[in-house]
Amino acid sequence: MQTRRQFMAGTAAATALLGFLPREAMATGSFETLEAIPASVQLAPDSYPATDIWGYGGTAPGPILRVDKGGRLQRRFVNSLPQASSIHWHGIRIDNAMDGVPGLTQAAVEPGEGFDYDFLLPDAGTYWYHSHNHSTEQVARGLYGALIVEESTPPDVDRDEVLVLDDWLIDPETGQLSGDFGSPHAHSHAGRMGNLILTNGIFDNTMTVQRNERLRLRLINAANARIFVLGLIGLEGWTVALDGMPLPAPEPLEEVLVLGPGQRADLIVDVIAEDGGTAYLARADEARSAPQVTFHVRGQASLARRGAPAALPPNPGHAMQLSQDTARLTLNMEGGAMGGLRQAMYEGEEHSFRNLAQAGQFWAFNGTVGMPDTPLATIDRGQIVRLTILNDTAFPHAMHLHGMHFREVLEGDSLGPMRDTLLMASTERREIAFAADNPGDWLLHCHMLSHAASGMMTWVRVA
Ligand code: C2O
Ligand code: CU
Repeated sequence: MQTRRQFMAGTAAATALLGFLPREAMATGSFETLEAIPASVQLAPDSYPATDIWGYGGTAPGPILRVDKGGRLQRRFVNSLPQASSIHWHGIRIDNAMDGVPGLTQAAVEPGEGFDYDFLLPDAGTYWYHSHNHSTEQVARGLYGALIVEESTPPDVDRDEVLVLDDWLIDPETGQLSGDFGSPHAHSHAGRMGNLILTNGIFDNTMTVQRNERLRLRLINAANARIFVLGLIGLEGWTVALDGMPLPAPEPLEEVLVLGPGQRADLIVDVIAEDGGTAYLARADEARSAPQVTFHVRGQASLARRGAPAALPPNPGHAMQLSQDTARLTLNMEGGAMGGLRQAMYEGEEHSFRNLAQAGQFWAFNGTVGMPDTPLATIDRGQIVRLTILNDTAFPHAMHLHGMHFREVLEGDSLGPMRDTLLMASTERREIAFAADNPGDWLLHCHMLSHAASGMMTWVRVA
């Protein structure tokens, strides 16, 4: 037990230390807090009632967190929800203990409790954070936000806009979220799709720009399952980064940009619409297109446009050669509606598809449904992994690896851009490769959150 004297001495030392802490840190203890809390916000147009959400800081998306490249993020996560929760920092080459996966890297944070997240951010780029417990429900309720890691030399743009895309499933009568987060239909088909599509939590998101202005748009797909197909009208643009990682050279965006759940893209766009006109980030919905963001063009930033943009500075330390010592793995995705899955292992026993469906489980990786006790593979640190993924289902899937970016292995063993989430169409076979340079236990799952909740989940161990 502490004696009274030791306690007093401790207090004196602490008081002396506090004198050196910045004011915000003093107000909340050591770390700034990030609180997950129920709130009511106006998501639908004004003629509809407000919607009850769960949000970081009471908003959806939550606050934009900005850190310098190589910097450190420290936040005390406070759970003021009626459910246990955790935060995953999607796309960050993070210290495994901070990855936010209950049951794998930490215990879920119970209501009223907290957890100190404290980690370094080695790579610049557009990332995001979101709940990783009961994600089908918690992300659908609004628990996500943008995490921006700033380049030391940012690109030459007039504005930098974060655009978080999401679709909400709302009852138009009450304005409230549909509470059927475990819908067997959504789980076994394409996932939970919303009927209210927002940007930064705003319906009909609009901004005023000037002709010839150059914008950096940081697009984040935070939807549970929707694949956004986007195009530019009155804007001319280049993709400069995918999933946070700079492309070696900007790629003109001529047709559409496809963003699966969890994926991000950084665009640099020039406003080419006339003064007084309108430009759009447009979304293709089935056969029609609809505005995702509307840009009113008012005035002219300069007489002439700038030249084509330069590449963003690369994030170093991701070198990989396929000729190095390589582990080969295969992941066979099966199940879902209209799939051919007859039986699979679930909780240590073989079950028929019918029994699995009754338990709300529909998908298997290599014949196993849900998170297995043993990893898909234990990989020596530094090894190159080549993983072949076969989508033997009737639906697309967005495969996300925690902790490390990968590259797609293309024809002739050439390598595609670095990504952390791979969108795969039905029946596709694709191969990815990554350098297993981040030690720890890392989840590999479908980011269509209904699919992850109903079977599409595994992990790898880097030892
Ligand atoms: Cu963005 Cu395991 O998730
Ligand atoms: Cu999926």
